[in-house]
Amino acid sequence: MDGRDLVRSVAEMGTAQGLRAVRAAWRRRRTDAVGLPARGAERARVPGLLTDAEERPGGALLRFTRSELRVQVSAGGTVFYAWDGAAPAPSYALRGNPPEPDRRAVLEPDKDGGWRVVSERVKVVVSRHGAVEVCTRGGMVLRRELPPRWWEPLTGGPARWVQRSEVAADARFFGLGGRAAGPRLRDGSYRLWNTDPGGGFGPGDDPLSVTMPVQLVVADAGTHLAFYDNPWDGRVVLREGEEGAGSGHDRPGTSELRMEGGPLRTWVLVGTPARVLRGWAVLTGAPALPPSWALGHHHARLGFGGQREVALIAAGYRDRGLPLSAIHLDIDHLDGNRVFTVDHERFPALPKLAKELREQGVRLVSVVDPAVKAEPGLAAYESGRAADAFVRDGRGETVRGVVWPGETVFPDFTDPRVRKWWGGLYAERLRQGFSGFWHDMNEPVSFAAFGEATLPRSARHALEGRGGDHREAHNVYGLQMARAGFEGLRELRPQQRPFLFSRSGWAGMQRYGGTWSGDVATGWPGLRASLALVLGLGLCGVPYSGPDVGGYDGDPSPELYLRWFQLGAYLPLFRTHSGHPTARREPWEFGGQVLEHAGAVLRERMRLLPYWVTLSHIARRSGAPYVRPLWWNTPEDRVLRDCEDAFLLGDALLVAPVLESGAERRAVRLPRGRWYDTATGTAYEGPGQVVLDAPLSRIPVLARAGSVIPVRGDDGAVELEVWAPAPGRSGKGFLVEDPGDGSRPRTELQRFTTRLRGDGVAVEREGARDVGYRVRIRGVTAG
Ligand code: NOJ
Repeated sequence: MDGRDLVRSVAEMGTAQGLRAVRAAWRRRRTDAVGLPARGAERARVPGLLTDAEERPGGALLRFTRSELRVQVSAGGTVFYAWDGAAPAPSYALRGNPPEPDRRAVLEPDKDGGWRVVSERVKVVVSRHGAVEVCTRGGMVLRRELPPRWWEPLTGGPARWVQRSEVAADARFFGLGGRAAGPRLRDGSYRLWNTDPGGGFGPGDDPLSVTMPVQLVVADAGTHLAFYDNPWDGRVVLREGEEGAGSGHDRPGTSELRMEGGPLRTWVLVGTPARVLRGWAVLTGAPALPPSWALGHHHARLGFGGQREVALIAAGYRDRGLPLSAIHLDIDHLDGNRVFTVDHERFPALPKLAKELREQGVRLVSVVDPAVKAEPGLAAYESGRAADAFVRDGRGETVRGVVWPGETVFPDFTDPRVRKWWGGLYAERLRQGFSGFWHDMNEPVSFAAFGEATLPRSARHALEGRGGDHREAHNVYGLQMARAGFEGLRELRPQQRPFLFSRSGWAGMQRYGGTWSGDVATGWPGLRASLALVLGLGLCGVPYSGPDVGGYDGDPSPELYLRWFQLGAYLPLFRTHSGHPTARREPWEFGGQVLEHAGAVLRERMRLLPYWVTLSHIARRSGAPYVRPLWWNTPEDRVLRDCEDAFLLGDALLVAPVLESGAERRAVRLPRGRWYDTATGTAYEGPGQVVLDAPLSRIPVLARAGSVIPVRGDDGAVELEVWAPAPGRSGKGFLVEDPGDGSRPRTELQRFTTRLRGDGVAVEREGARDVGYRVRIRGVTAG
């Protein structure tokens, strides 16, 4: 701490809060000085030599001179391997019980004293030094893990470890949670520690609020996902490989993972991208289904002012014929920023406002921060104290931090009792009339004038009764808060599915809802980062997310706002949001031209709503994200692997946003097959590149030939927009009609097929005599 830190924190937060942040930083440092003794001398260890292999269901237990390795292939072909007794459970990522072992997998001796486990889909080869190779059944190596290395403190405590891995020279890395620099993760160091970047961030900022030790690797030999199930702090250094590098030999791509503690256990899923994501959803849980209104447009802002202003904004949308599904209230609607309260001066009749808006089809969504103001008499504080809900340090003192309301305490969401208590608090929000919840500041953040802006690493956590400290609990804090909110809401309002999205989270967070970008910086780089985040998160199994349209921290030019709006309209969470001091951000604030074009894309979003609802159900059933990289169906297409400026929305649409200023045309890479420009109807043949018009009025959106897109017709009924198949080809599409926002929707996936017949297009519904919906044919049918 020096004078500059003090000046900075006071300048940023105001005097009182700045001084609190200074005190909190000192407190945090002192707590850790007592609670976390220095590591001292360490002993390095490697596995040693393989001495013995014992067959186990689905694999083997392999004993080395200084370690043991368990390998297990499960019935679906998912591979698990773990060192030194680590097992699949307990795990915060996994949903329910780990998968059953594949009892047909066999253990066989391999060359040079190694062993291999051979199953129907994969082969795992273990060398006598402890290298592990995951191969396709045909023997192509997808991932080679070199023998790990541990550093064990002589006085006991968690061992640090490093795991170096190799992938093919042509491989590309994706994932690791939400990374602004993605979606392709280039050479660099990526930290695994959920962090509020503390202000508007751009592609150069890392880490952000959602980090995950999940890598999706795409190579000619196949796609695989590797998940190191360990929530401790760590770092991954990635280096892409090079073909024909030195003297004509390929240099493999490498991943070096260093962890500060925790188990070394890895899951690997192999197959096509769709198969891998399906397996991941089986392992870590199906994505929660958003209510259909959550797939419309949301509007938020820090500092709406008050109830009257909120009503006026809703009226502004209505009067201009602009569809709006939800308004989000940020901390400024709370009484002094205290969670689960209302500022009754500015919001004297919140339930009435909520009811009136609801009648107009607009839901209210509430911000919910985890930190509770340490203030006697405050209901959440008192009930939390009575439930012994707040995180304590090693000496048993409640850990105090600083967040928006001032001095705060932090619920320990790793304790089932605390989750239950917290879930019950949402009753107050439901009484106020809120329909959805926006979890924020849950990395968790505690402001600090210096050092890390989070809880002390030595803070104690229940960790489901096992006990441990913040080093292990930090990255799962937001995940467990989401669980608490989700489970609480399901109990409080069983007939409705919860709508929840959370700034921070970890592997498995899709079970409880989605996420959003956090404070992405206003500017063209922030626009690009927005797409990177959504694509990367989708490949980590979190399909529902989106950015702050326009960026959080500044005032976008009309052009930037419009381009962001046009991108946002094709992302799952479509929300405008900004902090203060920023200017108003409603679509009519940027002039008539922007209003017209923003209105057009808003209406298009609502026209496509049946498609969005269908995509949400497909994501729930299959784990496939709504927003997919262009290589999703053709991962062997190397050019597409490197294409980061466009995406597939489901199977049917290709969206090519404008990501730079002044562009009126842009190059678009097409996957194989025929694609129609939906604005002009012109057909293009992929693979290849075309240059398309992208005037301010729209971004290029293409439809795959043969696809069936459920849309909302002029009369509100669902109809099918069918894009003519290319000659000699057929096509397909799906529809799930969601009967409402119930928690157990009885939904049926309807499948349609299309083919050319004579001069026309034949559309059939599987298992039915009639299509059952009005059909509109688009695209050319001849030639
Ligand atoms: C940080 C969030 O990222 C931002 O969206 C929100 O407006 C502020 N916290 C205030 O709640």
